[in-house]
Amino acid sequence: MMNDWRMRFTGYDPLDERRREALCTVGNGYFATRGAWAGSVAGDHHSPGTYLAGYYNRLTDEVDGRTVQNESLVNLPDWLPLTVAVNDGPWLTPDNSDVLEHTEELDLRRGVLTRSFRLRDADGRVVAGVERRFASMADPHLAGQSLTVTAENWTGQLRLATTISGEIRNSGVERYRKLSGDHLTDIETNLQGETLLVAATTRQSRSKIAVASRTVAGSNDKWRGSRSAKSVSSELVVTVSPGRAVTVEKVAAIYGSRDAGISEPVTAALTALDAAPGFDELLDAHVLAWSQLWRRFDVDVTEPADGMQAAVRLNLFHLLQSVSPHCANIDAGVPARGLHGEAYRGHIFWDELFVFPVLTLRAPALTRALLLYRHRRLPAARRAAREAGFRGAMYPWQSGSDGREESQRLHLNPLSGRWTEDATFRQRHVGLAVAYTMWQYVETTGDREFLADHGAEVIIEVARFFASLARYDKARDRYVIRGVVGPDEFHTGYPDRPAEGIDNNAYTNVMAAWLLGIAARALEALPVWRRSELTEALGLQPQELNHWDDLTRRMFVPFHDDGVISQFEGYGDLAELDWPHYRDRYGDIRRMDRILEAEGHDVTSYQVSKQADVLMLLYLLPRQELHDVMHRLGYPLSADIIRRTVDYYLTRTCHGSSLSAIVHAWGLTSLAPDQALSFLHEAVHSDLGDAVQTSTTAEGIHLAAMAGSVDLIQRCFTGLSVSRDVLRFRPRWPSGLGVLRMPLWYREYRLTVEVSAAGLVVSVDQGSGRGVTVRCYGHTRLLRPGETGTWPAPGS
Ligand code: BGC
Repeated sequence: MMNDWRMRFTGYDPLDERRREALCTVGNGYFATRGAWAGSVAGDHHSPGTYLAGYYNRLTDEVDGRTVQNESLVNLPDWLPLTVAVNDGPWLTPDNSDVLEHTEELDLRRGVLTRSFRLRDADGRVVAGVERRFASMADPHLAGQSLTVTAENWTGQLRLATTISGEIRNSGVERYRKLSGDHLTDIETNLQGETLLVAATTRQSRSKIAVASRTVAGSNDKWRGSRSAKSVSSELVVTVSPGRAVTVEKVAAIYGSRDAGISEPVTAALTALDAAPGFDELLDAHVLAWSQLWRRFDVDVTEPADGMQAAVRLNLFHLLQSVSPHCANIDAGVPARGLHGEAYRGHIFWDELFVFPVLTLRAPALTRALLLYRHRRLPAARRAAREAGFRGAMYPWQSGSDGREESQRLHLNPLSGRWTEDATFRQRHVGLAVAYTMWQYVETTGDREFLADHGAEVIIEVARFFASLARYDKARDRYVIRGVVGPDEFHTGYPDRPAEGIDNNAYTNVMAAWLLGIAARALEALPVWRRSELTEALGLQPQELNHWDDLTRRMFVPFHDDGVISQFEGYGDLAELDWPHYRDRYGDIRRMDRILEAEGHDVTSYQVSKQADVLMLLYLLPRQELHDVMHRLGYPLSADIIRRTVDYYLTRTCHGSSLSAIVHAWGLTSLAPDQALSFLHEAVHSDLGDAVQTSTTAEGIHLAAMAGSVDLIQRCFTGLSVSRDVLRFRPRWPSGLGVLRMPLWYREYRLTVEVSAAGLVVSVDQGSGRGVTVRCYGHTRLLRPGETGTWPAPGS
């Protein structure tokens, strides 16, 4: 259940608990802790987890006689356990007692998770409790937790325990459980007064992590500590009578050896804990930090029904818990599943493509910090290109600590139990996304310094890679790119050429042509001195630039006979799937690859796409820009071709990725506004509405879908874009969405934007300077600080 600022789960459903844990995660961009019952043990119903951005570790396994290595975001010692027991009874949990009441409520405005419960033990004694927790948005190393328990109908001894548990491993994803998950070694425990400490080192990456806590009850509490090899606990016994409430408060500190500005994590954690205020004061600072974040990030949509507002806030909330201004000080990228679970092992794909537009228009420094994650891994990308026989930089499809390729080569199909070859690493298009986001950041912010210091180098090296990947095909007198995988991961090869990639993925080829043009523009945009520095350092020769120019004119793009853009060469020759049959038989057909494999068929034989692929072009390139790129390539596009291309893929896509709905909505806004709106609804609710039984949200949120759905509202339906230093709007605002109000940061100005079916209103905050040039419905105005401009919708 949701209202605008709260999400609430009522009742206890062990089968849904893991999904709720992900959705009730508290985090601050530095670390996040899943919303697990405090003291739960990992198993089928619980996956407690705390993850620190950028802390990975690599383990090795033998699978089917092959050695496989996987790098994973590490589950850290659990700081949460705060447990209660009656007399000598067991520690009460909803799994070993009668659950009379149970609610989990996430306060999005304040970033606080509250769990209220009433549990009855085997002898009928009822314990009521309220537990609150937060990951401080004010100080990213601190967390707060409080528990108030009341004995309802009994007198006796209430036992309370506070623990930091090192008895953890990565086990949050069932299909990975056959592989090793013990990432921590050299676990040390310590106990001094009310302070508990567990320190550990990641086995292979040798990062040290320290988790410390301080728990207090009343002034006379007598805690009794105990230690085991991996955990440390303290226990308090209080005599209680009916109605008597006992409150304990815990403050935790987390540091790791990759942190800046510390000598080593144990000292840092203990020092921070020592200086940390009590729960209430810590909470006040945390709430203030969130209120400031919300002032930047809130997107207010007054859509009357369907919980749109609530879902938008939930999505923004989890976005900011995964990447926040605290990321500016750490070396971390944008993990596809947030810091909310172990799916995809915490890896970084191309999902930032969907995330940055929301960040850049509100906290550009944050995008910049996250882009640097990629720049730091440029040397690794260069090495990868060289080893594969190419020039420039080849970014990995899945990236972790050091920028090497982390994609798995074997994939377990949970439906069939079989391991199959995984060739998704051939998604070379990830480099296009990296370069695209750098250019888009510069266009939106005008941050030429970033372009000069970091962006241009990446853009040029990626362009160079694609220029060397493209081979001249004499018969066509065009350049072709063979053996890649496009965004649609179902097609990793042809039926008779499995796992070797497909040829001429339209998305890859067109975006490569686009990038080769942009690389030249990026170079031109640099100050002369920097241009010559880079040209020298990268050994750029005029013939190379000429070759790029040639590629922007002669890259091959496949089409079907009727003019529809072909997803790749040969896609149109594949068999058509019997969609009604599969829909009837399976209901949920999002993972057609797994269904077909379990049936003994091969998804690569069919015209079925996991997610939008060709349509990504409409998502990334403004229509005019797409027309220009295609025109230059000698493939003029008409509105009719676009319409038929959209229709074609709409009926052949099963949306096996949560990104798909976003891209389809984007492609459909002008063509079929109602359908676009229903994709928006789907995207906005993709995690919240994830089916309990088949939930993948349990293993982590889908960050790109969360951010991308907000981006649909802020950019797609408003037509917001930035080019040539003009902020442009082209609203196609569905009247059913009511009124949108949101703050935006553009250049140094804070703007308030209001969009509705009636038109657009933009106000610029008071201040100094020239102001902002805004264009809408064909009218351009310079808005000076303090001014408001109104653009009524034509005909309204
Ligand atoms: C999608 C990718 C995406 C990844 C991580 C996959 O299912 O196909 O496009 O990057 O999930 O979100």
